Amino acid sequence: MVYNSPLLIAQVTDIHLFAETDRTLLGLPTTESFEFLIEQLYRLNPRPDLLLLTGDLSQDGTSDSYDRLQALLSPLGIPVYWLPGNHDLPDVMARSLSHPLFLPDKSFQAGDWQFVLLDSSVPGCVHGHLSNDELQWLDQELQQNPERPAIVALHHPPFLTQSDWLDTSILQNPDDLLAVIDRHPQVEIVLFGHIHQEFQYERKHVTYLGTPSTCIQFEPKSSNFALDHQKPGFRLLTLQSNGRWHTQVKRIAYAHQLDRMAVGY
Ligand SMILES: [Fe+2]
Repeated sequence: MVYNSPLLIAQVTDIHLFAETDRTLLGLPTTESFEFLIEQLYRLNPRPDLLLLTGDLSQDGTSDSYDRLQALLSPLGIPVYWLPGNHDLPDVMARSLSHPLFLPDKSFQAGDWQFVLLDSSVPGCVHGHLSNDELQWLDQELQQNPERPAIVALHHPPFLTQSDWLDTSILQNPDDLLAVIDRHPQVEIVLFGHIHQEFQYERKHVTYLGTPSTCIQFEPKSSNFALDHQKPGFRLLTLQSNGRWHTQVKRIAYAHQLDRMAVGY
């Protein structure tokens, strides 16, 4: 595959599609806001080399919702890599996402960079956890490519976000992940979703980045569940072959009357 240099990646996360096109999440029709976001992806110049979808792609885990995801994204003609979040059903997802542009690989190279995508979902739970198998596999993949700058992606954040209600559902074994990351200095970035807001944290020369959802936004640093007025968004990452990079969150021009009184996301 021929890639741009520098490599341009779009992280798109927490799309929360339903089987029905017109269903809403706390008042927001998730298919519609996602369609606005896709319009913005179409207009990007240069085009992203690949899309990275970091979980909660479906709200109801139905094959219909994954079929719509493929139908909406495939006309862009950009390869799509993906991982599951707490709302996804990994088995249904793996079976449904069979379009040739949706690639099943969880460790791959693009340009000079290596990507490792982790499954932190736990059946029936909102919080995340990484199994020993998953952690060992990450260690091994990073060990095999010590010269390549690396991006690790998962759905759940490995840090507290200062939102009490949200902090109960972060990755439950962050120290296990950080111990692996610490062994591999080529890791530059850890990417995640789940928190529906922009987040950035530096630890030992690694940058941890959280990205807005394509639908509802959560209010940062809120003790209780609260929606934010920020627009839906996604993240662009520009990756140089020497390991240098920069990133930017893009918001989309989409407004909808939200059900601000709703609780129990
Ligand atoms: Fe989530």
